Amino acid sequence: MRIISSIREMQGLVNGVIRTGKRISLVPTMGALHEGHINLINEGRNRGDVLVVSIFVNPTQFGLSEDFTKYPRDLEGDLSKIEDLGVDIVFAPNLEEIYPEGFQTYVEVKDLQEHLCGHFRPGHFRGVATVVLKLFNIVKPQVALFGEKDYQQLKIIQRMVKDLNLEVEVIGYPIVREKDGLALSSRNVYLLMNERNSASQVSKALREIKRKFDMGCRNTNLMVEFGKKILEETGINDIDYLEICDPETLESKELAGRGDLLAVAVRIKGTRLIDNIRL
Ligand code: PAJ
Repeated sequence: MRIISSIREMQGLVNGVIRTGKRISLVPTMGALHEGHINLINEGRNRGDVLVVSIFVNPTQFGLSEDFTKYPRDLEGDLSKIEDLGVDIVFAPNLEEIYPEGFQTYVEVKDLQEHLCGHFRPGHFRGVATVVLKLFNIVKPQVALFGEKDYQQLKIIQRMVKDLNLEVEVIGYPIVREKDGLALSSRNVYLLMNERNSASQVSKALREIKRKFDMGCRNTNLMVEFGKKILEETGINDIDYLEICDPETLESKELAGRGDLLAVAVRIKGTRLIDNIRL
């Protein structure tokens, strides 16, 4: 496993790989790796000849009042977690490497970025799309793997790839969860014990709403109110959104249909958690 922080070195290496006709797969991450990331890495190994994992906490996707400075960072720990997983290259650039002085070019996926998290994290998806495009240009993968936990992010990257004619296949993988249903997230380490208990209710609320849908309910207002009640009963009052939307356009729906996306974002004390399931 080679650890590379220089863009130039990375590009030199991948150009050599590409000349030999090998396929590169990329798993972009912000580190603080957990089983959700590990799952993507394991899938990535089967998808290409050379597997690259990037670790970079991207400042442009954090709002001013968000947790960029306190976001968990543990490069050594991350490297030891993945050393036996068949990763060929870890690309871990520093801030100045990715955003040198004078940087001023950004990518925006106009409509998709407006929905769901977009309302509550202005500029977030612009930062995500920009850094992912940069990673694609640096690593030149044929395949890139993303988690459905960040469903809106996945759709935005897929749209960007289509709109900008990038030659990379973007594949989404299902959410990896704790036993009690909580979606794994690097931010879960922020949760204190009692908050951790409430956090498990987030996925429970989604499952309960889906159960209502499976029993024939189609009125999204009713289903959302029902879900909010479950959250509020466990003390989660700070709900950014709980929404049923079209899985492609992410537009909110009044009548739910099979396959629709049920997505939620809540804040438990300072910790923002997101989750989703398909109806
Ligand atoms: P990060 O939050 O580190 O997540 C890296 C990848 O792991 C993303 O594709 C995310 O969807 C996936 N992931 C996280 N938790 C998961 C879970 N419980 N189950 C399945 N997949 C999960 O997402 C980012 O970083 C950044 O925005 C990034 C794309 C790296 C750009 O900076």
